[in-house]
Amino acid sequence: MLHVKESDSSIANDTVNRGYFYSKSCYRLFSTDYLLFLWIMYQLIRRILFFMDAEKAHYFAMNSLKRICNVSVFRSFVTWLFNPGRNLHIQLWGLKFRNPVGLAAGFDKNALYLRELQALGFGYVEIGTVTPLPQDGNDKPRLFRLPEDKALINRMGFNNDGVDIVTERLKHWRKENENNKNRILIGGNIGKNKVTPNETAYMDYDVCFRKLFDYVDYFVVNVSSPNTPGLRELQEKESLRVILTNLQKINATKETPKPILLKIAPDLTEPQLDDVIALAKEIDLDGLVVANTSLDRTTLSDPGILRCDKIGAGGLSGVPVGKRAKELVYYVGRNTENKIPIIASGGISNADDAKKNLVGGASMIQVWTAFIYEGPGIVKKICKGLKN
Ligand SMILES: Cc1cc2nc3c(=O)[nH]c(=O)nc-3n(C[C@H](O)[C@H](O)[C@H](O)COP(=O)(O)O)c2cc1C
Repeated sequence: MLHVKESDSSIANDTVNRGYFYSKSCYRLFSTDYLLFLWIMYQLIRRILFFMDAEKAHYFAMNSLKRICNVSVFRSFVTWLFNPGRNLHIQLWGLKFRNPVGLAAGFDKNALYLRELQALGFGYVEIGTVTPLPQDGNDKPRLFRLPEDKALINRMGFNNDGVDIVTERLKHWRKENENNKNRILIGGNIGKNKVTPNETAYMDYDVCFRKLFDYVDYFVVNVSSPNTPGLRELQEKESLRVILTNLQKINATKETPKPILLKIAPDLTEPQLDDVIALAKEIDLDGLVVANTSLDRTTLSDPGILRCDKIGAGGLSGVPVGKRAKELVYYVGRNTENKIPIIASGGISNADDAKKNLVGGASMIQVWTAFIYEGPGIVKKICKGLKN
């Protein structure tokens, strides 16, 4: 016979009550009424964020999400809510990506929000651009919304904490996720400091590559941002050869080399593009990220163009660059006989855009601007559409 002491029975009752409470609150948490309430709250928060300065809103939103995710039950809820589902994993370069939808470089430059981005369902996140030394970037304001075009213009100028601090953060993240088979993969997007002359730029890439090597899953060499003076000149064939072959040499000394990709500008002319493709084939590059922000503003609607004069210099992203970026994906795919993997980036905001890029030769896709306009459910939405 089981003897239950009074204290035991109160513990038992307490446990039962707590179980009841949890299941009831879980029910409340997941009920449609509650989801509707969350959706209304989200629309409200979004309106408020769009009134704020774009860069401030970015950090405010991500820091708020971080605070929410500090509480494990809320983190589980966010993960559940934005779960993009199974069976979409991609095997590439010997790596297994949870799904083909990544977050493009520049969103989490300093590897501050990996846990939160993982909860939002991203298959992978490209951190950076990271430079050897920390730098502040250009004067603020430097990020502008063009809601009528679902676009952004930015002239951030590689503001980042520098490779040492970012490496420390990644080291910590790796340790925390040692046993997490479902962890997102991390791309390390690397660049040069503004003060480094182009002649010695390869050394900046060298430093970042060596320091980040153990903590990222693949590398992207960024020579295509329009906001670091002279950087795009490094897209010229011989400059690229110096930077890329140096990294490949270091890579070859490692037990398990990491994929090295090159990110190109959407504004390259056809002969420049042909040069990049020829070099990529010649040196056996692992992949291309197609493409970065654009200097071309002719694809904007008229009011956008007027506002743009006031905004000043910067790279355009979002819907207006989608057509050009997709054309480049098709061009590169065709001219490499689809032998060099492509990550498509530029104006992808729904499953249809993603499909078109994948059909055109991309192995995976990335989003950035659409995350701002379509909201945190974007990965789930695209993945759902890709399954159909
Ligand atoms: C504010 C902002 C900052 C960015 N910073 C970087 C960066 O540091 N390095 C980089 O390679 N690309 C950067 N990009 C470009 C994006 O990674 C992406 O290639 C581009 O925005 C096109 O994609 P989208 O139309 O989905 O935004 C940045 C884009 C934005 C909007």
